[in-house]
Amino acid sequence: MIEINGKETSPEEATLLTEMESAFNQLEHEPLRTVLLDSLSSERDAVRAIGDSFSGFVKSKHALDVRRQFFASWQRTNNSAMSVEGLANRITAEAEEATSKFDSTRVLSMFRAAGRLNRVADEDLGVGGQVLHFELYYRMATEFTERDDLWQSRKFCLSSASEFKSWLDMSRLREPVMVGLFSLLIHEGYTHAELEMIAPLFNQWATEVMDLSPRDARRVLAWISVHCGGTEKNHFAHTCAAVSHYCEGSGAKIDLELAGNVFRTYLRRKAAVMKQLRDLY
Ligand SMILES: [Fe+2]
Ligand SMILES: [Fe+2]
Repeated sequence: MIEINGKETSPEEATLLTEMESAFNQLEHEPLRTVLLDSLSSERDAVRAIGDSFSGFVKSKHALDVRRQFFASWQRTNNSAMSVEGLANRITAEAEEATSKFDSTRVLSMFRAAGRLNRVADEDLGVGGQVLHFELYYRMATEFTERDDLWQSRKFCLSSASEFKSWLDMSRLREPVMVGLFSLLIHEGYTHAELEMIAPLFNQWATEVMDLSPRDARRVLAWISVHCGGTEKNHFAHTCAAVSHYCEGSGAKIDLELAGNVFRTYLRRKAAVMKQLRDLY
C-alpha cells in the first residue's frame, strides 16, 4: 500500500490518481483545473473501487458469462465517439445561426470549438486510415470470450452500464453545451488514466492466465495500446481548447459548481459500473 494525501492507496488507485492529475494539469484555466483536481480528492472511494474491480478481473479466468458481462458493460462506459460528434454537430448548428448575429471572429471561434471535438473522435472513427476502434474492441472482447461474439448481446450489459451510457449521452446531446464539454473533460482525462493503469495488468492476464503468446497478446490488446502513450491526453488537450473557443465564441461562462457536479457524477457512475462488475467475480 502507498499513501496519497494521508490515505492508504492501492497501486491501481495510485496510478489512476497520478495519471489523471498529469492529464488535468494541461488545463490552463486555473479555477476549472482546481475543480477537476478537487473532484478527484472527493471521489477517492470511487477511484479506489474502479482500481479494485480491474485488478480483481485480471486475477483469474472467470466464467465465460462473467467475461461476456465484463466486456459488454465496460464497452458501454468507453465507447462515446458518437456523442462527441453529436456535441460538435450542436455547436456547428449554433455557429451557423450566429452568423447573422455575431462578428466573424466569434463565429469562427465556435466552429473551431467543434473542430477540436472532431480531433477527439478522429482515431475512434479511423480518420487517418487506422482500424476503427470498434473493430479493435471487437477483436479483444471476442478473443477473450472463447472467440464467439455473443458478448455483444444487450442481455450481458449490466444496468449500471446502460445507465452510465444514457447519462453521458444525455449530458452531451440534451443538456447545455457546456455540460457536454465538462463531461468530455473528465472522460478524456479519466480514460487516459484507466488505459495506462490497465495496460500492464491486461498484458499479464492475456499471457499468464489466458495463455496467449506475447505476439497474440499484442495483437488482441491493440485496443488498449492505441489509447496509451498520450492519445487520450491529447484528447483532453483538444477538449480544453474546445472549451475556451466555445466560451469566446458563444459568450458562455464556466459555472464551476455545475462543472464539479458533472466531474464527481462521472466518477461515481463509472465506479457504480465497476462495483457491479466486481460483485460478479
Ligand atoms: Fe478510442
Ligand atoms: Fe479519447
